[in-house]
Amino acid sequence: MCGIVGYIGPQAAAPIILNGLRRLEYRGYDSAGICTVDQGGIEIRKRAGKVADLEQALHVSSMPGTTGIGHTRWATHGVPNDPNAHPHADASDTIALVHNGIIENYLTIRKKLVKAGYQLRSETDSEVLAVFIGMLYEQTGSVEQAVRAALGEVDGTFGLVVVSSREPDVMIGARRGSPLVLGIGSGEFIFASDASAIIAHTRQVVYLHDNEMAIVHRDGSYVTKTIGNEATVSAIEEIEFELDAIEKGGFDHFMLKEIFEQPNTFRDGLRGRLQLEDGNVRLGGLESVRDALRTAQRIVITACGTSWHAALVGEYLIESLARIPVEVEYASEFRYRNPIIQPNDVVIAISQSGETADTLAAIREAKMKGATVLGMVNVVGSTIARETEAGVYLHAGPEIGVASTKAFTSQLCILTQFALLLGRMRGLGQLEGRELAKELDAIPAKIQRILERVEDVEAIAREYASASNFLYLGRGVNFPVALEGALKLKEISYIHAEGYPAAEMKHGPIALIDTNMPVVFVATKDDIYDKIVSNIEEVRARSGRVIAIATEGDTHLHSVANHVIEIPETHPLLTPILASIPMQLLAYYIAVQRGCNVDMPRNLAKSVTVE
Ligand code: F6R
Repeated sequence: MCGIVGYIGPQAAAPIILNGLRRLEYRGYDSAGICTVDQGGIEIRKRAGKVADLEQALHVSSMPGTTGIGHTRWATHGVPNDPNAHPHADASDTIALVHNGIIENYLTIRKKLVKAGYQLRSETDSEVLAVFIGMLYEQTGSVEQAVRAALGEVDGTFGLVVVSSREPDVMIGARRGSPLVLGIGSGEFIFASDASAIIAHTRQVVYLHDNEMAIVHRDGSYVTKTIGNEATVSAIEEIEFELDAIEKGGFDHFMLKEIFEQPNTFRDGLRGRLQLEDGNVRLGGLESVRDALRTAQRIVITACGTSWHAALVGEYLIESLARIPVEVEYASEFRYRNPIIQPNDVVIAISQSGETADTLAAIREAKMKGATVLGMVNVVGSTIARETEAGVYLHAGPEIGVASTKAFTSQLCILTQFALLLGRMRGLGQLEGRELAKELDAIPAKIQRILERVEDVEAIAREYASASNFLYLGRGVNFPVALEGALKLKEISYIHAEGYPAAEMKHGPIALIDTNMPVVFVATKDDIYDKIVSNIEEVRARSGRVIAIATEGDTHLHSVANHVIEIPETHPLLTPILASIPMQLLAYYIAVQRGCNVDMPRNLAKSVTVE
């Protein structure tokens, strides 16, 4: 989604803003622009296209001024074109803003402005807000008061930064629903949508809360207040990751780097938590809700996209280890059907970014209905992490590739430990607990072994790069892996792919099978192995092409499948973790073969902060 950067300090603003925008590119965008304040005026340069095009065509890095704002836009209102790109100015061209979010009542405000004689230059809700602030400035004579008054009338969401040539030594940031972080450097400030655009300058940050504003001054002072003008106390926090975590480190793409990070990220998710001897788990972030967990009658997990797939695996894990009924809900649907929440229900939100608007709305609904609401989130300090009663961080580090990979396996790492913890509270024996804990501990080395054989997957990818469709099939706990494999392929290679429980194939999708249909099976050795082999035979009998993900040493599958990708043997409940790695690699190498932009696939945003 949109990315925001703002800088005020002693240095030239434009190069800093440009670098910040490059760091935010991963969020997904279609236009970019910069505004600087200098010599009593503001200057805006913006256009549809990439940040590199902005620099090349409009030479933004040489824009003068030590105060400025920049933006990468992911279109919501109005097509991606030059006028709709941000920053937007007010009618007097003295106030400019960048905005992430949606102003829901922008048509009402727009009508008010037009009636008062103002003309709009774009189709965006954000320009309406800029012009509205300008109109209110005429009445109040203060940028801060004008911003406050405008935001008081706005319905919807915003993360925004405002600058003005009328008050060149002040910059104002505000948020409601869309993230905004303030970096506090020595004698300088940098606002950004996330910490990755700040870390090159300072590690000290304030995560703004909803309905909070930060007013920063060139002299190094700053205050935070509510939009209603009450003082707030803002804790200064330290960014936890290192700069190299958001750089490619010699890999061709962030996605590949993140796939290869998984032995480490998985280990980080276990560190200090897994208790091998006791066959148990210690999740410090859940201590405060231990009683609620012990008495929970039902668990509802809510999430979107890849995180929703992790939740489906979580359902199997929790039901089989802890015997608590679990329901998995699309966060985007949850609140619109008046969900039934009972007093002993525990609701868990899973999110990499911690900012997904639908997931946030779902947890607010669950909280309002009295559930204990927990979070499994990657981004520290994110809104979902803050709005949940208790939770567990994934510790996967920044995920920059738009297609989620390491966050998915980290989600499975946390869900497995959570299920083990619940199981041990509710009658799962120490021996069973130990067996699972030991297997979990062995997972990082097993992921590493899969990664040592990437060439095999790359070769298969070359053979299928021109396919138009794919089917992904799995059964039981591996069905969600099939869904996830299909999603990965769709997102980054634009090949149509569908995931199904393997036995459902004969209820419809089997009609699609012919020589042009590659079918990826998760066919590891477990209780239903024979059944899945029968499903493979059904595909082969109709000339479909089979790529089987199999347990190491399974010689039989080599005779029935066209290609076999082996993964190490593990506990059946942990197979999804290992099986998802070749799926990620297959999608990656197919996308590379097709010349797709793997890290920034078309139309996608990393963090979906609009509903
Ligand atoms: C797919 C992907 C998305 C996200 C979804 C939820 O690769 O990344 O489907 O999983 O948008 O995002 P989070 O987990 O940030 O809430």
